[in-house]
Amino acid sequence: MKKVGYFNGEIGPLEEMKIPMTARSVYFGDGVYDAAMIANGVCFDLEDHLDRFYNSLRLLDIRNFDPDREQLKNELLRTAAQAEGDVLLLYWQADRGSWPRQHRYPPEDVKANLLITVTPKKLADIRLPIRLITVEDTRYLHCNVKTLNLIPNIMANQKAAEAGCDEAVFHRGNAVTEGSYSNVSILSGGKLITHPADELILPGISRKHLLELARGLGVECQEREFTLDEMFGADEVFITGSTTLVRRADTIDGRSVGGRDKELFVTLQGAYMDRVRQMTGLDIPYR
Ligand code: PDD
Repeated sequence: MKKVGYFNGEIGPLEEMKIPMTARSVYFGDGVYDAAMIANGVCFDLEDHLDRFYNSLRLLDIRNFDPDREQLKNELLRTAAQAEGDVLLLYWQADRGSWPRQHRYPPEDVKANLLITVTPKKLADIRLPIRLITVEDTRYLHCNVKTLNLIPNIMANQKAAEAGCDEAVFHRGNAVTEGSYSNVSILSGGKLITHPADELILPGISRKHLLELARGLGVECQEREFTLDEMFGADEVFITGSTTLVRRADTIDGRSVGGRDKELFVTLQGAYMDRVRQMTGLDIPYR
């Protein structure tokens, strides 16, 4: 199958799958998700994605999700095994179950719904720079939870697309937080600077790898707030994400940015791609 769907144990072609109208995800977006890249049949860092997923469930107090980690892993891999393609997006979400609409949780014996999709993913040419726009971050204060509620992200991303750009960078006042679907970092004076993994951003798994690799290479890393001015004046601005990988920007709001420390950027991007290659065999050009 090209695109595979899964709902509570049942697998089929994605276009033919159906979910109940009373699912809490339909009424309230009352659920959490995670998404990872599969290349050559291997999921890049599934364990970290599972950690984050179970943490999101805990933070949203979704107590009725039954599968334990091994069972969930089996369901994810069993579904992914049905899909065709060298590079796939593995997406899964759990909501608080199906029950007639009411704000309080459904009764305790109602089980959470598990939905999985596996779809082919065309990776971008990561040698090409991207264009960004800035958007005021109007999200709530639980951005570390990967909830299904992504309205500000969607609206910001649409705004970027309409401006002919690839991604929107959120900022709260003067402080840059993250992108609509990625984390944002800068290089400045040979240092890597990125927002701390607090409740204002999603703790990205690619961000985590990049920080680890940068520190291993002796690059000073600062997990701290940085300002819009710092970003516009940075040597490099780049975004990270599971299927975005690592990409530098050359314009923000139509102004030229970065391009002043390509060597360090490519070193870090290369270190990340080496790790992806070691884990999955994925080999795409970055230089
Ligand atoms: N997006 N920040 C936000 C708001 C995100 O939605 C994502 C991931 C990231 C990067 O996280 P990671 O490195 O773990 O992929 C940061 C996923 C891919 C999505 O929503 O499709």
